[in-house]
Amino acid sequence: MGVVDEIKERLDIVDVIGAYVPLQKAGRYYRALCPFHAEKTPSFYVFPDSQRWHCFGACSEGGDIFTFVMKREGWDFATALEELARRAGVVLRPRTPEQARMDEENARLQAAVAEAARYYHHLLLHAPEAARAREYLARRGLSSETILRFQLGYSLPAWDALRAHLTGRGFTPAELVRAGLLVEREDGSTYDRFRDRLMIPIRDPHGTTVGFGARTLEAEGVPKYINSPQTPLFDKGRLLFGLDMARDAIRREECVVVVEGYMDVMQAHQAGFGNVVAQMGTALTETQVRLLKRYTRRLILALDPDAAGIQATLRGLEVAREAMDRELTPVFNPRGLVGFERRLGAEIRVLTLPPGNDPDDLIRQDPARWPVLVRESLPVVEFVLGQLLRQTDLEDAKGRARVVEAMLPLLRDVGDPVERETYAQKVARALRLDARTVLARLYEAERQAAQRTPVVVSPEGQRGGVIADLEGYCLATFLHQPWLLDAVNRTLEEWDIPPLRPGDFNDPACRAALEAWEEILAEGAADPSILRERLPEAVIFRLDSLPEPPSDLSDEQWLREGIQAALRLRERNLRRRKAELRALTEEAPPLEVDRYGQALEENARALLRVQQALYNRCWALSPTGVETPFVEGETR
Ligand code: UTP
Ligand code: MN
Repeated sequence: MGVVDEIKERLDIVDVIGAYVPLQKAGRYYRALCPFHAEKTPSFYVFPDSQRWHCFGACSEGGDIFTFVMKREGWDFATALEELARRAGVVLRPRTPEQARMDEENARLQAAVAEAARYYHHLLLHAPEAARAREYLARRGLSSETILRFQLGYSLPAWDALRAHLTGRGFTPAELVRAGLLVEREDGSTYDRFRDRLMIPIRDPHGTTVGFGARTLEAEGVPKYINSPQTPLFDKGRLLFGLDMARDAIRREECVVVVEGYMDVMQAHQAGFGNVVAQMGTALTETQVRLLKRYTRRLILALDPDAAGIQATLRGLEVAREAMDRELTPVFNPRGLVGFERRLGAEIRVLTLPPGNDPDDLIRQDPARWPVLVRESLPVVEFVLGQLLRQTDLEDAKGRARVVEAMLPLLRDVGDPVERETYAQKVARALRLDARTVLARLYEAERQAAQRTPVVVSPEGQRGGVIADLEGYCLATFLHQPWLLDAVNRTLEEWDIPPLRPGDFNDPACRAALEAWEEILAEGAADPSILRERLPEAVIFRLDSLPEPPSDLSDEQWLREGIQAALRLRERNLRRRKAELRALTEEAPPLEVDRYGQALEENARALLRVQQALYNRCWALSPTGVETPFVEGETR
């Protein structure tokens, strides 16, 4: 029995969930107001028999104790495992020495950052040198309660104040450099990274401080913000400022507003708009969207309309579609956003601020206006259309044609066909065109794109390529990137496709390897070398002859690679099954034909879903620049 099962055996779902929500017994199950969305009549059910929960209301989601605590606490699986194991009194197998060393190191770095935050905070409140910072905050309209809640601080105008403070508490300069708090000179000496700045602690979603944004008090002449560098704790692309404090409000409001800056978040929270987070000046990443999606699928982006980004984006839309296809990473542009929506099942809207205003100004001047703007936010496609129309002379036929052409790639990317047509009609109406004209262009563009797509040909999948060992390739890919299996399976789940399991592999060695790998991941380790310790010689032999997975891919590209590999495996299996079922129906006694017929139908539906994912949905993930290096007809 794996640890997961052991934990499930020891913990009763009624106790686990009952600790979060008051459960009411109703017959053989329990009922409650759903903790994940606002509702007046209970549609959240807990089933003791199957040890599962389900919300039949707005969420229409369900799962076991793991999915519940993950969703409720915003934990990843590893954290949920750790926590539930603790509650259940199940001992997780010890981590590898390397892993243990890294955990310890991270804990030290975390302690250093936490102590730095306390130190800076103390200085802001009490140090005479911080008088100017205190005045600055007062001028910016931040209350003392906000200062406390965000644990704002101040760094002294000195080169070694923090170093002295923290080394005095047992941290080594080397650790402080790794924590991003000190900077190392060429000669090996170190100095405080942050000096004479307003210190804004940045926390992960669980409230652990992992870095800082540091604002200058000067009006000009120096960089406005200095942020923590990339450290083992601090990864800007995986964090959102304010999320730790916004979680409950996001769930309650059933949406999150993403703004650009620290100040915007603090001002919004202070004014009672608690569902606001900031992306800290970088482009919104897929990881961030995924992070937010744990709390809500409705994202509202509050953008500065003057931002060079949007203008450039709109110009970008006019670029030929091929060029855009070559973009390797999904980016913060309308197409990237529509891609996010489809891939992640999110709903993204754009909130337009009045020119020259950021949320900070706006909320200070006129807080009542904010909820109005939030309500008036537009779906990405409509937002882009609005922007294009504003730039276009509608009397000019060429201009109108350009708008249609610019909108086509966006429309094509909209996942839902009904939505797609509705938008196409909106485009037509805005341009005073017949809807059929736009739709015809849309279908034409789809047809052309299908022809241009070089890799996918037919469901029979005759493609050029070399690697024959599909199973080996798939396994190698997942072993190479420990996070990938979980990420791929989550995406598949979102696409209503069962997750990749050892049973998908035909080769017993691959199956055993994936089984062991799942176990290792569930234990929170992620080291392929442990695999070798656990597997028999025969399997190790197979592991040694796996095809090379690609190298140098971004996380997004890995995700795509993993999804495609998994889907191809699944497609192959479903096709084999189909052939088997066909054969069975031909031989079966008449009474049983029906049964097989049903199985065949199910098989056809599953196959269709997989092929749609592989040939359409995946395509959004798949820039034509990256070819999948395996073909059908592999030998194993
Ligand atoms: P803003 O310039 O809008 O900053 O940049 P802000 O938060 O509104 O600050 P104030 O109102 O001018 O005091 C938005 C975000 O971009 C990042 C920060 O995360 C900032 O909050 N940024 C900006 C930097 O990282 N470095 C910079 O030099 C500027
Ligand atoms: Mn600002």
